[in-house]
Order: sequence, then C-alpha cells, then structure tokens
Amino acid sequence: MTTTAEVAGRADEKIRRLEFQLVREYGDVPPSLVHEWIERARSRFGGARLQDYVPLFVAREVRASARAFPVETTAGTNLSSWARNTARRLLAAELPRRWAHTAGVARRAEHVARVLPEGERELLVAAAWVHDIGYAAELADTGLHPLDGARYLRRAGVSDRICGLVAHHSGAAAVAELVGLADDLAEFEDNRGRLRDALWYCDMSTGPDGSPTTVHGRLAEIRQRRGPDDPVVRALAMNGDERLAAVRRTHRLLRRAA
Ligand SMILES: [Fe+2]
Repeated sequence: MTTTAEVAGRADEKIRRLEFQLVREYGDVPPSLVHEWIERARSRFGGARLQDYVPLFVAREVRASARAFPVETTAGTNLSSWARNTARRLLAAELPRRWAHTAGVARRAEHVARVLPEGERELLVAAAWVHDIGYAAELADTGLHPLDGARYLRRAGVSDRICGLVAHHSGAAAVAELVGLADDLAEFEDNRGRLRDALWYCDMSTGPDGSPTTVHGRLAEIRQRRGPDDPVVRALAMNGDERLAAVRRTHRLLRRAA
C-alpha cells in the first residue's frame, strides 16, 4: 500500500523536474520567478485530495503566468513598454482605480521627462508605470507596497536604479520606519536627485483616478481617504516637507524649461 508520505515524495520529485523543465521552456522569465510561481501554486493545491494531480495543476497555473509575463527585454528602449505591460497585468483588472492613477502618473512622467538628462527620461517613465505595482495581491508580502514592488522588480531582473526609485518613492522611508520595515527598505539604494524628485512630483500631482491635481489637493485627499491612523498619513509629519521640496524643485525645472 502506498503511504501519504510516499505520494508526497513522488509529487516533490515531479515538481522539481517540472521546475527545471519550465525554466528551460520560458527562457525569458527569471528562474527565481518561476520558482516563486511554483511555490505559490503549490501552496494553493497542497490540500488537494488527489495529490498525484498536484504537479499537473501547478504546471497549468505556472504556464499561464509565464505566458502572461512580458517577453520584451527589460533593457534599452523597451523598458517603459515592459513596465506598462507589467503594471497593466498586475493592476488593471484587480485594482482599476490604482491602474487609473498609475496611467495618470505615467502620462505626467512623459511630460516631465523633458527636464531630465536624456539617459534618465525612459527611467522616469518606466518607474512611473511600476511605482505602485506592490499593491497587487500577487506581490503583496510585507504590506509596504514600495518594498513589495521593488522586490518583485529585482526578482524580475530590473535595474537597481528603478528598484531604488520604486522602493523609496514619495516618502516611503518614513512609512517603513513607522511600520518597522526600515531595515528591509534599506536593501535598496535611495538615489536623491532630479530623477527621484520627478517621480515624487508625478505621483504627488496625480489624483487617485489619474487626473492631475495639486500637491496640496493630493495630500488632503490622502489624509481624508486613509484616515489619521494610517501609517502613510502619520508619516506625513516626517516626510511632508521632503515631499513638498521635491515637488518645488521639479516645478522650478519645468518653469525653466517652458
Ligand atoms: Fe502612486
């Protein structure tokens, strides 16, 4: 008679072979992501009565994720379209309002990019598309969306520069401090400068539905929507001035470029 442990051991073996096969089959998907998808699918089907079928269920689910994964390269001119596709896949159906906000921030970034050196323009637009992907259920882990988003991007092989921009966007460090995730966020470098300011500006001047707003309108909306106990609102006491200063500096550049 076959014991439960034997069945589980056989499923383990099959899944290890499956992972190897899927990594080879989807060469554009980073192996760490394939592994992550497998583990997630597996935990979902772990309790299935017919354990022998688990590898089949897992394979079907991972193939669906791999097919939806953008195959464009994350380097060069395709970076911003990769970022847009990724954000659309993660946010559009699940969080339509967050997706509308994201599209608004990216529109703004396309406009603001002209004040940056040429080599940073695409980085701004790409970072704008992915800055809030950490809200997607597929990515949510610590609950600090800039951190969850940045870790996903790092696993996907995106450059440190963009991961850092996403990790630290719009005063995330102060929120991380309040929720005890400052050390985790410090995995990512916070490069201060025009590019960082510009991303904060785009985020701070776009409302939750994607329409343009003023930074003061945006801050009032954040306070009202989240309530006084939310860490993002409590963090405004620490990062409010920094947010305003980033917006002011970018405004100045835009005025000069007009
Ligand atoms: Fe945002």
